[in-house]
Amino acid sequence: MRVLRFDLERPELEYYFHELYQAFDPGVKNILSGAAEGVLSQKNEENNVILSLTWEDGKTLTRAYQFKNNDEPLENSIYKGFLYDLLSEYFNKQLEWGTLTGIRPVKMAQNYVKLGWSPTKIRNKFREDYRVSNDRSDLLIQIAKKQADFIPGELECGVQQRISLYVGIPLCPSKCDYCSFVSTIIDKKGENLQCYFDHLLVEIEKTGEILRTGDLRIDTLYIGGGTPTVLSASQLDTLMSALEECFDLSHLREYTLEAGRPETINREKLEVAKAHGVERICLNPQSMNPQTLLSVGRPWEAGLIEKQVALIQSFGFKTLNMDLIVGLGNETQDDFLRSLEAVIALEPENITIHNLSIKKGSRIKDQNGIVVKEGYGEDFYQAVKSRLSGEGFEPYYLYRLKYTRDNSENIGYAKPGHEGIYNILMMAECQSTIGIGAGATGNLYDPITNNITKVFTVKDVKTYNERFEEIVEKKGHAYHKHYRG
Ligand SMILES: C[S@@+](CC[C@H](N)C(=O)[O-])C[C@H]1O[C@@H](n2cnc3c(N)ncnc32)[C@H](O)[C@@H]1O
Ligand code: SF4
Repeated sequence: MRVLRFDLERPELEYYFHELYQAFDPGVKNILSGAAEGVLSQKNEENNVILSLTWEDGKTLTRAYQFKNNDEPLENSIYKGFLYDLLSEYFNKQLEWGTLTGIRPVKMAQNYVKLGWSPTKIRNKFREDYRVSNDRSDLLIQIAKKQADFIPGELECGVQQRISLYVGIPLCPSKCDYCSFVSTIIDKKGENLQCYFDHLLVEIEKTGEILRTGDLRIDTLYIGGGTPTVLSASQLDTLMSALEECFDLSHLREYTLEAGRPETINREKLEVAKAHGVERICLNPQSMNPQTLLSVGRPWEAGLIEKQVALIQSFGFKTLNMDLIVGLGNETQDDFLRSLEAVIALEPENITIHNLSIKKGSRIKDQNGIVVKEGYGEDFYQAVKSRLSGEGFEPYYLYRLKYTRDNSENIGYAKPGHEGIYNILMMAECQSTIGIGAGATGNLYDPITNNITKVFTVKDVKTYNERFEEIVEKKGHAYHKHYRG
């Protein structure tokens, strides 16, 4: 692994410089002192930021970037912009997302649209302040406009009372190597699952009591994971009945059940889901290539995905979503495009394209350190987008994760009328979400300040089971305070 030393007059820039540098030159290790093959330096002289990059086996590039006196003290974003310009010249490369690293760029576009800015003004803002390409700015504007139809209007009476409900089942049959979500493997006798399930029912009841203020309106309900379909049909039935008893679900605009791993679903579970009004099901191949799946520790069985899709479709759920990940194992672009074709042929109404993000929690990182692989290039992403648009899929939500190939984005595509409303509301942070279960973060929205207060909770099932009472009490207190004062 190549090593690059940062010589920074402002050491607090390290994190931002590291992140941006990785996006240009993935897989390089950064250090702050000691011997290295490369050096990136920053110092300020009068009205200039002097940035310099040298690699022993490459060239040296030094540039002075002028700033205005009244810009002092310089914000980190200004340094990032200058570093972007240096790296862009050094590597002769542009990044579609420029210096933007946040998870929710659509929210920025939404704010500009709300201010009544024209597309040209928004594009200029994204380009000048963040070096974002016109293509990505247009994508953000397109998605922001599409989402506007699903977001409760700011002035709409009672927006405070409209909420979403998330129930987390962070348990899985086994751990996939690339996955960085906190998820517990079910033990042989299923004891940790049963114990979690019993606690979850109590939390549902307690939360229902707190929220029974009479005028709360639940917009969307999302049972996610992990893999919620590790629950048996009878457990699912009990869970869904408890939700109906404890909450008023009569206004639901969407009810989603994640059934991610194909081997965890069967006819009985789908019958339960259908009977309780689930309309959106997620069944995720991640890749349709057996070698890829097996190489990342995800089970595969010939014909299983196709069989399960047919089973789901036979129930007539409104929307089937299927997730794919770009960059799994040693896949080439063509491998991915073959998976995409195979998924399109199964006729789901949603396809979500993730880009592999190498995060701390995953085994991939544990084995190899942070290794973000060389990218596929912009043509690949455009090919994916135009193939999906040719089939009538439109991008409806987008978020970004760190340490991805090509510094790229995750996009949810939907046939019109099948957009995942929960996903939109979550990313827009425009209403409260009540999280129930381990890892289920609550978002409490204040329509006056437009701020979200997070209600964090423990992520792992073991701690949840051990400290259940204290955890539920703490969460309940936050919900009570928000809704009942
Ligand atoms: C919370 S996970 C649950 C999925 C479900 N348990 C399954 O395995 O199908 C939601 C989605 O995140 C995506 N994902 C998981 N790990 C990822 C990673 N390291 N980088 C990018 N996407 C990832 C996968 O596409 C996955 O379907
Ligand atoms: S990808 Fe899904 S099934 Fe695999 S470990 Fe992560 S949450 Fe569990």
